[in-house]
Amino acid sequence: MRSSAVPKRFFWRLYISCAVLAVVCIALAGSVTYGIVTKHHLARLEQELHENAVLISRLVENDLGKNNDRVQQIVQSLGDDFRPRATVILPDGTVAGETDEDPLRMENHADRPEIARALKGGRGKEERVSPTLGVRMLYVAVRVGPAGSPKGVVRCALPVTEVEAQMAFFSTVIIACSGLGVGLALLISFFISLKITSPIAHMTEVAMDIASGRLDRRADVTSKDELGNLAGALNAMRARLVEQITTIERDRGQLETVLSTMAEGVAAIDAREHIVFINDAAAGALETTPAEATGKPLWEVSRNPALERFLQEAKKSGGTKTFQWSLRGGEARYYELTIVEVTGTALSQDAGEAERGPTHILVLHDITTLRKLERMRRDFIANISHELKSPLTAIRGFIETLQAGVQDPAKADEFLKIIDRHARRLDDLVSDLLELSAIESPDFTLDKGSVSLKEIAESALELLAREISAKRLQVEVCCTGAVPAVRADRIRLEQVFINLLDNAVKYTSPGGEVKVTIGREDGMVKVEVCDTGIGIPGKDIPHVFERFYRVDKARSREMGGTGLGLAIVKHIIQAHGGDISVESRVGRGTTFTFHLPINE
Ligand SMILES: Nc1ncnc2c1ncn2[C@@H]1O[C@H](COP(=O)(O)OP(=O)(O)OP(=O)(O)O)[C@@H](O)[C@H]1O
Ligand SMILES: [Mg+2]
Repeated sequence: MRSSAVPKRFFWRLYISCAVLAVVCIALAGSVTYGIVTKHHLARLEQELHENAVLISRLVENDLGKNNDRVQQIVQSLGDDFRPRATVILPDGTVAGETDEDPLRMENHADRPEIARALKGGRGKEERVSPTLGVRMLYVAVRVGPAGSPKGVVRCALPVTEVEAQMAFFSTVIIACSGLGVGLALLISFFISLKITSPIAHMTEVAMDIASGRLDRRADVTSKDELGNLAGALNAMRARLVEQITTIERDRGQLETVLSTMAEGVAAIDAREHIVFINDAAAGALETTPAEATGKPLWEVSRNPALERFLQEAKKSGGTKTFQWSLRGGEARYYELTIVEVTGTALSQDAGEAERGPTHILVLHDITTLRKLERMRRDFIANISHELKSPLTAIRGFIETLQAGVQDPAKADEFLKIIDRHARRLDDLVSDLLELSAIESPDFTLDKGSVSLKEIAESALELLAREISAKRLQVEVCCTGAVPAVRADRIRLEQVFINLLDNAVKYTSPGGEVKVTIGREDGMVKVEVCDTGIGIPGKDIPHVFERFYRVDKARSREMGGTGLGLAIVKHIIQAHGGDISVESRVGRGTTFTFHLPINE
């Protein structure tokens, strides 16, 4: 048990109280004993003197008043062994016999109080300094003869100093014993005080530890008394506190995890607009971290006048307000900012501050993707309308011309062919769109089987044989090493090869080369479709897989392209768990590379 850290004032108070009590009790007992013993000794002395006086009175009774010499002889005959001084006095005060002196030379004793009392009441006692001996004496006198006609008085006396000497020794013994008792009492008081106060000191220390947040200590008091009960209560309190803190910490941890993993940014600001809480997403949006932002004013962290303006507007109108907000860092991001006023909840660490005004919760919802999708949808509709509009305009134009009447049958035939070409284009466009929407649909499934990529590549090239020979292109399909069969949807992969090879053939000048290389890389099958065509400018490369994207719109459209081919290719490859990329140099050629999982 450690008790040094706790002030020992209580210990000393208890110890001093015990010690004072013990000393007072011992002193009282000593002095009472001293008084009783002294009294007892004096009583015994008086008794002895009385007995002796009575004895002498019997001896002298017959001669007293008649033969005083005989009285003196009797008194003298008591001898040296007779301790008290004995005096026989006649009723008039004349001394008739005396053990230590000559009675004739002694003064009249009638004025002695003990003698007067004895003559009157039969017995008298007096303690005083003897004028003859000069010491303090106890005198006891008894009357001789009846009260009506006393014959005299016998008085015996002994020095009180004898008793005093005895009492001096006794008092030394008492003082020595008392001293020993006091010493013992001090020692016992010390241990008793220690025994009582050390569990209290220990518990005080444990309570102070608990108060300062150290909850690992238990009060170690096992006695079955009030202190034991107190220790039990302290331990129970500690356990409850630990339990509650664990619950609070767990709840807070859960809440923090939920808030920090939320895609939405959440921040709480107090009445002074200082950030009380901010999660990762919100801090990320403000290009900071929660640790850095917490406790700082919002304006200092955001440095964004728009946000500040929104906040002031929200504060003015109260309740919940939603704003659209864009943050232009590297890439523009869009947020929907909801500001919720919270009243009556002290969000600030400093409750006094929080009480002065409402606090606000800011919820940032990243709507960049939504905006992008919206834009894509708008672009898509615009593109599709444009794509559909051009052939339709052409078709209507030629139909009107034909309706107006064309004389030359060859011209009419030519117009019909143009109408047919545009109608086919519309058909292609609609088919591609349907295809794309089918592939993008969540219900899209692949009809997988074991397929040989080489075979598919070759059959795709066969379909393009006319264009290839027209452009006198050199085509080649080669495999590097043993290429395993892949589990894939044959028809869809044919679409991939047809699209890529169609592009390669389409965008390569006559006499050029188109090469398909199939190999293995990182546990996947790697296919490269390489041409020596016109190439794709660097700025267009990131967009070639987008729907309707064409590098040279006029030229591509002229060649019958819809700009949907690569979008379809990308979706099919991704649906197979693969990836596709492109490398190109303008005027040199283009290489499309895709990987497919082997699925052996
Ligand atoms: N091998 C290539 N060489 C040069 N440019 C290419 C090549 N492949 C694609 N491109 C460019 O990428 C664009 C998109 O190709 P994509 O196949 O999606 O459309 P398209 O060929 O124009 O039409 P279609 O939908 O009929 O295939 C093309 O318009 C073309 O500009
Ligand atoms: Mg194409």
